[in-house]
Amino acid sequence: MYNFEYQNPVKIIFGKGEIAKVGANIPAGSKVLITYGGGSIFKNGVYDQVKASIKGFDVVEFGGIEPNPHYETLMKAVELVKKEKITFLLSVGGGSVIDGTKFIAAAACYKNGDPWDILSKRALVEDAIPHGTVLTLPATGSEMNSGAVITRVETTEKLSFMSPKVLPLFSVLDPETIFSLPDKQIANGIVDAFVHVIEQYLTFPVNAPIQDRFAESILKTLIEEGPKVLANKTDYDAAANFMWSATMALNGLIGAGVPQDWATHMIGHELTAYHGIDHARTLAIVLPGVMHINRNQKKDKILQLGERVWGVLDGTDDERINETIKRTVEFFESVGIQTKLPDYSVPTETIDTICSRFEKRRYKLGEKANIGPEEIRLILENRL
Ligand code: NZQ
Ligand code: ZN
Repeated sequence: MYNFEYQNPVKIIFGKGEIAKVGANIPAGSKVLITYGGGSIFKNGVYDQVKASIKGFDVVEFGGIEPNPHYETLMKAVELVKKEKITFLLSVGGGSVIDGTKFIAAAACYKNGDPWDILSKRALVEDAIPHGTVLTLPATGSEMNSGAVITRVETTEKLSFMSPKVLPLFSVLDPETIFSLPDKQIANGIVDAFVHVIEQYLTFPVNAPIQDRFAESILKTLIEEGPKVLANKTDYDAAANFMWSATMALNGLIGAGVPQDWATHMIGHELTAYHGIDHARTLAIVLPGVMHINRNQKKDKILQLGERVWGVLDGTDDERINETIKRTVEFFESVGIQTKLPDYSVPTETIDTICSRFEKRRYKLGEKANIGPEEIRLILENRL
């Protein structure tokens, strides 16, 4: 196992009815900005629960944060934060609202020039406005991690940053909030969380059985509970298990002390930037190719995934690897997510554009930094 430091101070408040505790967890005397997306919180009663909980606070609101949150929109919120002298941010929504709010928190305190540098140059975030979250879509793990992914429409860039300064103070996870999710978003959440685990698990062995078995337990829970949620959205127990799986998939625990991949995410972000394909769907398109192209370097872990998660025990190593990739693809398709780029009407020029973008960036992806423009082309053209 590699050396590691792990600290996760996010307070998780989990369960039905727990949104009532939001107010008690915001520092007294705060001036609060509630951030939200396109309005789902007004239809499912989450907004009313939040407002009831924070009675007595001085509250301002900022809505309209898009899926794949736009830098251009978030900078308007930064202006509002400064004008209103906001001291606490409360994000109510999915990963996009939470990520966007992390950026608002950092950008409002950024004093070294253009806040876009936080994303484009990974400029240090020295300070951020404290924030809490009310999660309404299990998927990203943003509610318990230090990362955020932001899109700049003007330049078709989708970039990420990480900083311990933007870790939420608390996150409320009420599984009942997901009763109103469209099937499409539930499927996205299942696949995004699944691929988060894979990015931290499917590399090469470093003798870290705790991380491996935690990772496998999350994958198996998603495989068992995800379809139950799709079959019956108001199955509280299934919703609770799905929600906790997605948080555990990307709160740093299973990734501590082990190699990590993230090639699938990096390539996927480009498909979202150019074509607006939902984040999770881009992962379902890219992951099978990443598994194929790195089948030798990932061999031990693909065989372990096959055996322990999919029950693939028979055949030669090559046959078992193929079967494991096939089962993974079938799982994505079984929850309603297509896995081939042509299913999404992406023109071939996009592949050229993405490859030349990675050419310019001059870094390679994956746990052994061996996925460059040529490999990305093979993956996207499905020629493996
Ligand atoms: O905007 P509203 O009206 O709230 O509707 C949203 C949105 O249209 C809707 N929704 C959310 N909760 C709902 C609901 N509809 C009904 N009932 C509810 N309870 O769902 C739609 C999608 O929401 P969004 O927040 O965009 O989805 P998700 O949580 O999947 O977040 C995706 C974003 O997170 C980033 C992705 O790149 C993408 O930008 N990621 C963030 C990560 C992180 N911070 O660690 C890691 C991930 O890999 C990912 O990259
Ligand atoms: Zn993801």
